[in-house]
Amino acid sequence: FQSTFVQSSKTTHLSSSSVNKNNFENMKVAVLGAGGGIGQPLSLLLKLSPHVSNLALYDIRGTPGVSSDLSHIPSPGTVTGHLPGTLPECLAGSDVVVIPAGVPRKPGMSRDDLFGINAAIVKGLVEAVASHCPGAVICVISNPVNSLVPVCKEVLVRRGCYNPSKLCGVTYLDVCRANTFVGEAVGANVSVNVVGGHSGTTIVPLLSQTPDVSSLSQSKIDALVERIRNGGDEVVSAKDGAGSATLSMAHAGFVFVENVVKALGGEEDVVMPAYTECDVVKGCSFFAVPCRFGKSGVEEVMGLGKISEGEKGMIDDMSGTLASQIEKGRKWAIEAS
Ligand code: NAI
Repeated sequence: FQSTFVQSSKTTHLSSSSVNKNNFENMKVAVLGAGGGIGQPLSLLLKLSPHVSNLALYDIRGTPGVSSDLSHIPSPGTVTGHLPGTLPECLAGSDVVVIPAGVPRKPGMSRDDLFGINAAIVKGLVEAVASHCPGAVICVISNPVNSLVPVCKEVLVRRGCYNPSKLCGVTYLDVCRANTFVGEAVGANVSVNVVGGHSGTTIVPLLSQTPDVSSLSQSKIDALVERIRNGGDEVVSAKDGAGSATLSMAHAGFVFVENVVKALGGEEDVVMPAYTECDVVKGCSFFAVPCRFGKSGVEEVMGLGKISEGEKGMIDDMSGTLASQIEKGRKWAIEAS
């Protein structure tokens, strides 16, 4: 026991001394839903980031404990915990607000089944963002992302502070899954572009853009596309009623948010996939595509790149579904306002 203890304290020391203080940005990140399955490990990863100076954690439960726990990690950023009543203090001065608040799926549920509950939760939170940090970049993790991001847009439009460069749905987990599954199939590290939305057929992996994939048979490629699209269901089923992806999502959310923070702080050439308002695909006012981030959020929507006929067909087939999910969020928010 003694040697384990000594080793673990040494590991902590090494990781804190390896932080490059020259890269330290004065950036505040608020996590709304920080007490949950995604919120806690996401907050842990953000606490370790040298790019986050102030981490503010909000939830309807649990955040005093989570923030106290994280505050004992000797990384440079500070952490505060907030419950209902101190949401304004949590949000004030935030550069980035990341939202994993809401209920997750259980086996047999689609992401769309979460809409009613999560739309109301996210609407309330984004109204508070509009009041207390209207210039922040908002990163929506809560599902269904395809419909909730349009809900956020309508809330912000009504509050007079909608900036399309500062509202993103987080679809990066689909890219992480694609990189993992395709990487395993071809035996190499790959970087896969996944576009569209974040549910079922709206997830479109552009495998023709990954050179190593050309060595695979069409049936293998089709199986990979299906697995990437249904990666979330694999986890929901394995957790057997205890929720959906939390740890891989925390990783994906962290990589996304840290890149946004770096870009806001002046780092150049930050490209991340984001579900953003754009006109890349006719009829879909939001679409996930690679975006160049800068000091003001999304500065360039980079488009689809070269795609195969099969991928064009997948996009044509799903665009009606995505458009109706976008419209569902827009309509709900207008009626609820
Ligand atoms: P969870 O139930 O473990 O955590 C959600 C947290 O939100 C809870 O701590 C809860 O107290 C909190 N919450 C509820 N109402 C709130 C409010 N009004 N204000 C602040 N906090 C509130 O759920 P989990 O597993 O963390 O998932 C969260 C969401 O993320 C779900 O909607 C899930 O579907 C989604 N998700 C999204 C993914 C993506 O790729 N974008 C991947 C995996 C999950």
